[in-house]
Amino acid sequence: MKKRSKEFWTYCENDRRQFLKLAGYGTLGLITGGFWPLSDYSAAAQSPKTLADTEFLPDLDISLTARPSEVAIFPGDPTQIWQYQAVVHRGNKNRVVEIPRSYLGPTIRVRQGEKIRIRFKNLLPEESIVHWHGLHVPAIMDGHPRYVIPQGQSYLYEFEVNNRAGTYWYHPHPHGRTGPQVYRGLAGLFIVSDEEERAVGLPDDEYDVPLVLQDRTFGTDNQLIYTSGHRMEQMAGFLGDMIMVNGLPDFTLPVSTCAYRLRLLNGSNSRIYKLAWKDGRPLTIIGTDGGLLERPVRRQYVFLSPGERIELWTDFYDSQVGYETSLISLPFDTGGMGGRRMGRGMMMGGMGQNQNLPNGAGFSVFNIKVTQRVEKDQPLPEQLSEISPLQQDEAVNFLNPRQFFLTMQHMQWSINGRVFQMEEVADDEIVQLGSKEIWEFHNTGGGMMNMMNMPHPIHLHGKQFRVIERSGVMHEGYVDEGWKDTVLIMPGERIRFLVEFDDYPGLFLYHCHNLEHEDMGMMRNYFVRDTISSDRHI
Ligand code: C2O
Ligand code: CU
Ligand code: CU
Repeated sequence: MKKRSKEFWTYCENDRRQFLKLAGYGTLGLITGGFWPLSDYSAAAQSPKTLADTEFLPDLDISLTARPSEVAIFPGDPTQIWQYQAVVHRGNKNRVVEIPRSYLGPTIRVRQGEKIRIRFKNLLPEESIVHWHGLHVPAIMDGHPRYVIPQGQSYLYEFEVNNRAGTYWYHPHPHGRTGPQVYRGLAGLFIVSDEEERAVGLPDDEYDVPLVLQDRTFGTDNQLIYTSGHRMEQMAGFLGDMIMVNGLPDFTLPVSTCAYRLRLLNGSNSRIYKLAWKDGRPLTIIGTDGGLLERPVRRQYVFLSPGERIELWTDFYDSQVGYETSLISLPFDTGGMGGRRMGRGMMMGGMGQNQNLPNGAGFSVFNIKVTQRVEKDQPLPEQLSEISPLQQDEAVNFLNPRQFFLTMQHMQWSINGRVFQMEEVADDEIVQLGSKEIWEFHNTGGGMMNMMNMPHPIHLHGKQFRVIERSGVMHEGYVDEGWKDTVLIMPGERIRFLVEFDDYPGLFLYHCHNLEHEDMGMMRNYFVRDTISSDRHI
């Protein structure tokens, strides 16, 4: 029998107990294999109500149901979608805000330190589970695909919000089906506020505008069209030919002559945006994935890859009523499979791509129109938040960072030559609870076939990290300052980030957030091993 550490079994056992308690699952067996197996999962779930922890007093208690629905996006037939719908049982109803006429789920607003209960109910005709992207929660609350529940069943989430103020989001995570489920509409924002943020005094209420960017393709019958499922299309990732903002086409944001906080989420399956203002003003960035930056930074343009968030400060105080501009996506070279390097006319470069709007094409994302004069002068704060200095030398592997190579093998994207297996963790994917580490990702691409090089947005579950180095830079327009959970790595680039596994042992994911890549298996588990009895083996 393969060596397994005792704390690993303890983890399995605790995980199993908690899992049984929360989801009401049946017997779990342990499988022997070449890697670290976790648990078998099957059987029926019970009503979450009877399973809720009675000592857990939630500040916000909601039901979140995923179900087929329809929404009138265009004149004529409504569009069939899948949607998250919420009911508030306890807490302020204004914290859960639906977006009118949108397929998106409600925006959930919470404060740091609050206790949240979410009773997820799956009414989809297939398995699903919800993941809280960017939130630091225990493994059992993270929405790992091994916790999927079938149609008609429930999963109970109870956790305390301990993230910094920032723009997080939630979406499904069933293995192999994340792409299609998000595409059909299953996604929503999860916005956290805290004291530090409130003290800064940023634009709020109607001047704090979340904007979810996604691309979709609709048929003449107004219905969504997803990828044909061909390998080449899957390899490239799905690209729609219409840009939706908050679930709406041809989006225009009416603004007043004052300062705005625009929170942008790239909720697209695989499209990367190279954002810039059409009128040439620089972008003022105040926040990224894990909340506010230390101080604002300026860029002429900024890349936003799937899963990433960016917060912009925009002031229209010197604009006239009637002034119009747009946030645009500039053309760029995706470096191979994206299609632009080889020129428009050549089919090879655009293989598997949406020919109408390939990745790297230029387009308008949304329009802004100044519609109202207000006397409201709000200066951009010089200091936004406090961010601890990077202490790379505190990393246990400072001299020898953990290496990850993003490559393609046999028409399959992989990480270190491996693809996702539900409960598999390789020896080099185990980290020690309480340790700081440096992880290094190399986008070496498809090897000899240069056209197979692609950008990969790499995402780590459960943690925010700090980018400490980016080399082989092929583009500018990154905001690597501040806290991140998803980082874009262009072909030929290498990045290093520093991450601390300060609490929550267990099994978490890291993966490419190009959802088609993720669904193909460009995703792996990492295991946070408990410090106690770290070197004792069975
Ligand atoms: Cu946005 Cu695995 O997550
Ligand atoms: Cu995530
Ligand atoms: Cu990828």
